[in-house]
Amino acid sequence: MKKWNAKNVMNTLPERKTDAHKGTYGTALIAAGSRFMPGAAVLSAIACMRSGVGKLEVGTEESVIPYIIQHLPETTFVPGFYERLESLSFDQYRVLAAGPGREADDETEQTVKTFLSTNLPVILDAGALSKRTYSKRKAPTILTPHPGEFLRISGCSKEELEENRQVTVTEFAKESGVTVVLKGKKTLTAFPDGEIYENTTGNSALSKGGTGDTLTGMITGMICCHEDWKHAILNAVYLHGASADEWIKKKSAHAMLAREINDLLPEVWKNFE
Ligand code: APR
Ligand code: MG
Repeated sequence: MKKWNAKNVMNTLPERKTDAHKGTYGTALIAAGSRFMPGAAVLSAIACMRSGVGKLEVGTEESVIPYIIQHLPETTFVPGFYERLESLSFDQYRVLAAGPGREADDETEQTVKTFLSTNLPVILDAGALSKRTYSKRKAPTILTPHPGEFLRISGCSKEELEENRQVTVTEFAKESGVTVVLKGKKTLTAFPDGEIYENTTGNSALSKGGTGDTLTGMITGMICCHEDWKHAILNAVYLHGASADEWIKKKSAHAMLAREINDLLPEVWKNFE
């Protein structure tokens, strides 16, 4: 299996154009957060804005907004997101993401359906991951399950997955026409054309609530600043892991918080530019 390593990252990370303005790197929309999981929206929003995007809009419940503002005054919000979902226009966005801090409820499902009806790249995580069939889309559909979520969406057995992660995830990506980022120790990224990469960074400091929400935000932001969406995903997974590797050089793997990935990312990223 091919591995995505430091050299690949150095060869594919984009330079920030000197004449760029905020429109150059597009606007992302993340639908995340709910009353009892507002922090997931905070983490993914910060990660997105640290990952190269021009502007970020968050679609969320009204009660979540103050939490995000407090930590990220740079973002804006879609007014009445869930109430107005069916009449919203998505022309202004470059990428759409849904799921962090969401239950798999009717509102989340409606969001996913609406997002998938656009011709934009769509990233689905956490509550937005359900067993469904994906109609053919020109733009990439990216799913970011941990193994438990993968079992839920694919219907395959635990034994089957454990026996051969690579074959199982490759087949699922090909058959469903989606990209799957199967998270865990050595995250696998399987593309719908059958290509698959193993990530080479990360450690068990990441095995803590919130780190997946951070990764979703990073992939969303990276898609906005990369020309090639595949490189964007692979580089996001790599730098997410590399930030945790940087943490354990001086600090205990027990003690890292997901938000610290967002703090470490700028310096870790610089090492590969
Ligand atoms: N080694 C390397 N990387 C690891 C390890 C490990 N031992 N353990 C976890 N990771 C990484 C994974 O690769 C992934 O990038 O940490 C991240 C964990 O992501 P998630 O499992 O999605 O974790 P989390 O942020 O807690 O997700 C919370 O997901 O399952 C839903 O309902 C849950 O909404 C909640 C959300
Ligand atoms: Mg998760």
